[in-house]
Amino acid sequence: MTVTVVTGSASGIGAAVSAQLQQAGHRVIGIDRRDADIVADLSTTEGRQAAVAAALEACNGVLDGLVCCAGLGPTASSCGLIVAVNYFGMSELVDGLGDALACGDKPAALLIGSVASAHPGIDKLPMVELMLARDEAAAKAQADVLGNPQAAYAGSKYAITVFARRKAVEWGRRGIRLNVVAPGAVETPLLQASLSDARYGEAIRNFVSPLGRNGSPDEIARVVRFMQSEQASFMHGTAVFVDGGMDALTRPERF
Ligand code: NAI
Repeated sequence: MTVTVVTGSASGIGAAVSAQLQQAGHRVIGIDRRDADIVADLSTTEGRQAAVAAALEACNGVLDGLVCCAGLGPTASSCGLIVAVNYFGMSELVDGLGDALACGDKPAALLIGSVASAHPGIDKLPMVELMLARDEAAAKAQADVLGNPQAAYAGSKYAITVFARRKAVEWGRRGIRLNVVAPGAVETPLLQASLSDARYGEAIRNFVSPLGRNGSPDEIARVVRFMQSEQASFMHGTAVFVDGGMDALTRPERF
């Protein structure tokens, strides 16, 4: 049986991914702050280490799949926290579970990015370089100094996508596929919190995808299920936008 760790399994996209993978016959080991097989706080080094240790115990050191969904939106309590969960909460799980994946059967990992990662100028933010250099304290401090939650969110999603694409070169040689799915607006508690926030609500409502609607968690999870399957055996190191056409709308000449 395919054994897959899913972070953020208690809600939204992570819950839908867990359900889809279970339907496909996977044994899912869920990690979240609550209501999960492994309850851990991915915003801290200790929480991530505890999550990795518990996951390795649960899978006996052999893992076939990893899907990192856990993340915070721009309404989180601080910019540093967004960086901690969205970048370090994913990258440290990837690193911590890499050896177990290398022992797995046709192993594949996938990180949930965002269409926000394609925002112009995001790649130039100093916090991005600090994330990629693995300097968590400095990256969080930079994010807090800038004090722009949307930039922290987009920067963390851009950085994690670059992290995955760099890691794909090494992991390809180890036989582990690694990809990113970048959703547009998806109806989850995270999006609802932004819609209810006076700072972001109107802008999000006015930025409608070419398909004219938001996505559902299941529409993202079905793509994740495919990309984690042998049907996608040659997909590696790529970022797939599942966004109702938002990326095509904002930058049609970049792909
Ligand atoms: P959600 O809020 O429904 O689910 C996020 C999950 O992550 C929750 O279960 C939460 O408890 C968990 N989580 C947050 N901080 C954590 C921590 N410190 N430790 C452990 N678990 C933690 O949100 P949603 O929308 O399902 O988000 C899933 C992923 O999709 C996130 O990475 C988000 O950035 C991304 N995304 C969401 C979009 C949307 O419009 N909903 C659009 C683009 C990307």
